[in-house]
Amino acid sequence: MKIAMFASEALPISKTGGLADVVYALSKELTKSEDEVIIVTPYYASAKIKGHHLKNLGKMTVHMSWRNQEADLYCTKIEGVTYYLIGNPYYYGRSNLYGYHDDCERFAFFSLACLDLLKRIEFPADIIHVHDWQVGMVPTLLKEKYCYDPFYDKMKTILTIHNPAFKGMVDRYFLNDFWGLSDDLYDSGQVRFDNMVSTLKAGIVYADKITTVSPTHRNELLDPYSDQRLNGVLELRKYDFQGIVNGIDYKEWNPKTDPFIKANYDVKDWKEGKAICQKDLLKTFGIEKGKGPLFGLVSRLSWQKGIDLVISAARNFLNDYNDCSLIILGSGEYELEGRVQALRDEFPNRCGIYIGYHNELSHKIYAGCDFFLMPSLFEPCGISQMISQRYGCLPIVRYTGGLKDTVEGWLDENDKKADGIGFNNYDVNGLSYGMGRAKELYLNSSEYDKIVVNALKKDNSWKRSAKEYRALYLELAK
Ligand code: ADP
Ligand code: GLC
Repeated sequence: MKIAMFASEALPISKTGGLADVVYALSKELTKSEDEVIIVTPYYASAKIKGHHLKNLGKMTVHMSWRNQEADLYCTKIEGVTYYLIGNPYYYGRSNLYGYHDDCERFAFFSLACLDLLKRIEFPADIIHVHDWQVGMVPTLLKEKYCYDPFYDKMKTILTIHNPAFKGMVDRYFLNDFWGLSDDLYDSGQVRFDNMVSTLKAGIVYADKITTVSPTHRNELLDPYSDQRLNGVLELRKYDFQGIVNGIDYKEWNPKTDPFIKANYDVKDWKEGKAICQKDLLKTFGIEKGKGPLFGLVSRLSWQKGIDLVISAARNFLNDYNDCSLIILGSGEYELEGRVQALRDEFPNRCGIYIGYHNELSHKIYAGCDFFLMPSLFEPCGISQMISQRYGCLPIVRYTGGLKDTVEGWLDENDKKADGIGFNNYDVNGLSYGMGRAKELYLNSSEYDKIVVNALKKDNSWKRSAKEYRALYLELAK
């Protein structure tokens, strides 16, 4: 099969969150069968291209209604996957990937460029797999515009919803102005959401199959009381809508070979290995720790992630127990960044903070911490809790979405399966309860060792999930 992934970020070129991990690792796993996989992604100013040989494929004109915009095309091969990078200095020559008033226009250009590129490079994809709102309009474009060209008419589409909170909302005027689509699509309700156009909803209506990144999140999205308010349209597509849990890249995330951590370890020598990594981590942040556990967090600092709960619960906890410590790595909302820094100022010896994005440091945190905080308000899947398990850093999660599907919370001493700590309520008491349970477990050393070993042994690789995606592709391509 020929598979084309269209995504606004993909490792190792760009990343702000788990989407980039998924697009890269899933594609890599798919190439292990005889499938040909390409990834098409923007060429941002911050693209990490060092060490990759980029071939310049020249320019391509993309017609966005009345605009003729130039795309600079590059390609490179990474681990069996061919990457096509779409450049345009006006749209992508900026310091961040997202967060601009014209994001919809930037990714409308990208969506059109992706489809045009397939013809330009003569890649008659069997499957086009699009990810999130940025490329949500692709299935609509294919069925309403490009299908009149025989090159495109047999292509099938899958939309994966990674984050339903971002819906790609734009005024109806732009339906024609950006994508050259008819107003009828708005009037009939096909692409309308809250009296605007939503590219995510358009994807749900037009894609041949829809997935989200865990079975529990699929059910949450279909719930009539879902906060995301996509339940109505998803109900209509229920039988084409599946939840497939993410995996993690076992090569990138492997404590046995990780070049960023002070000591390498696996399930046999994790105690000694983690102790060395922890010492190194505490030194890096200039903090200390007593007999209690070291909690860690690596995250976008966003309302989605329960950071406000972390700040309050951790403040209480650090006040109550002077043998515990905390390390936070993250960046995001300005107010949360300020509040996190204020927490460090209150506990300068036991709280370490790094505001920013830092991959190497994230590896050190997963390896050096005892527990990982993930009290998300909602979490379609989550990658960090699985990385934590792989490094023997037990995740403390709120049971929502993929966190429920990937973490077995510790119950008691008869519990043989647990590989983390779980709680239900999204409030400070919920997280405080989780942290309290963690401390109790940590101080019961034989019990703690057993749970860490369960986590270290857990299979969170892409093998099984890539098989599920492939089965979907095959069903569509037949
Ligand atoms: P989301 O995609 O919603 O942000 P996930 O748990 O799916 O959450 O994925 C987050 C990924 O981004 C993980 O690989 C995590 O290690 C990484 N990450 C998040 N924030 C940072 C940061 N500040 N520095 C380095 N890595 C980060
Ligand atoms: C989104 C979700 C996260 C998921 C990631 C990759 O960013 O918030 O839960 O793991 O996408 O699918």
